[in-house]
Amino acid sequence: MATAEHVGLAIETHGLRKTYRSVRGRSVGVEGLDLAVPVGGVHGFLGPNGSGKTTTIRMLLGLVRPDRGTARIFGHEVPRELPAVVGRVGAIVESPKFFPAFSARRNLTLLADAIGAPRARVDAVLEEVALAGRDRDRYRTYSLGMKQRLAIAATLLKDPDLLIFDEPTNGLDPAGIREVRQTMRGLADQGKTVLVSSHILAEVEQIADTVSIVARGRLIASGSVASLLGEGKRSVRVRVRPDDAKLATTALEADGLVVRPEQGALVVDGVPDPAYVTRLLGERGVWLSELTPLQADLESVFLGLTQHETPGGRTHRGERRRRRRGDAGPPPSAPVPAVVGAGAAAGADDAVRDGSADGGAR
Ligand SMILES: Nc1ncnc2c1ncn2[C@@H]1O[C@H](COP(=O)(O)OP(=O)(O)O)[C@@H](O)[C@H]1O
Ligand SMILES: [Mg+2]
Repeated sequence: MATAEHVGLAIETHGLRKTYRSVRGRSVGVEGLDLAVPVGGVHGFLGPNGSGKTTTIRMLLGLVRPDRGTARIFGHEVPRELPAVVGRVGAIVESPKFFPAFSARRNLTLLADAIGAPRARVDAVLEEVALAGRDRDRYRTYSLGMKQRLAIAATLLKDPDLLIFDEPTNGLDPAGIREVRQTMRGLADQGKTVLVSSHILAEVEQIADTVSIVARGRLIASGSVASLLGEGKRSVRVRVRPDDAKLATTALEADGLVVRPEQGALVVDGVPDPAYVTRLLGERGVWLSELTPLQADLESVFLGLTQHETPGGRTHRGERRRRRRGDAGPPPSAPVPAVVGAGAAAGADDAVRDGSADGGAR
């Protein structure tokens, strides 16, 4: 039963764990995850590919059974009490299928009839996702952003209080991403709770009120975006004489900072304080010609939190060597969001999966 202590939380999990059996043995999908998603607002569920986001969402929706732990939606334990809350939840987990030759209106009307939603909802949801003007055009003529907004419209037919979208902007172009983002923000502004997962931290940062950041199936940070950015370590851009770049990189990395070259300068992540970099390099006789604190973002928070981990059996030293050699692409277990541009979402996802998306979980 829903009890007073759970009031105020749309989603709550404790010690949620899920392992998968495979020919290679057991792999961990989610490792003792504690989530708390407040009622109202957009909650970003963020983490690199393979960090357990989809597994968690599937457990919440009763599609996968956890090995251990508990999950509640609006105070109701799931999957046991799912029937009591399922009517209040709309979700997109896999790409929904629509009839390509039918219009958005026709597709939604069929769906409304199938799930017993009043047909009057069709107009309302078309309006909500800003498809009302194009509702009689065939689905196959829609842009990717419009298709995804139709998918969101379908989840709204039941007028749910909680919406769960698993990587809804994957594969969309920047315009589509913006449309979907605005749609999610609009739903939250109406008082709904939106849980949106993404492996691109920066993409969700702009619309999320609160976030949970996961890595390797565990929660590594959570809270309001504002508080995480306030507490997080910074990134700075430094410029040194070209002859000094190697020495500077070695010195900074030896101190545990993450360094990447960028347009003739060095970007240093995980910096506790810009003055720290000045002093560290000064002590090595490297003088800065420029030091620019970069706007703190969730990616740098994430990097700051994970930089000392040595995932997948590969040492950080090894990763650094690879980076210095300038190997193409991110190492499989490196934090993917830091390097994946928004427009490349789908391609990057595949690339990482083909590498070893589950490398981090082992
Ligand atoms: N059906 C499955 N069988 C085996 N392993 C799985 C399965 N689904 C997910 N995994 C593994 O569980 C981990 C988490 O995956 P997933 O939940 O899809 O992460 P995310 O959604 O964050 O990318 C990964 O290591 C992945 O390879
Ligand atoms: Mg996923």
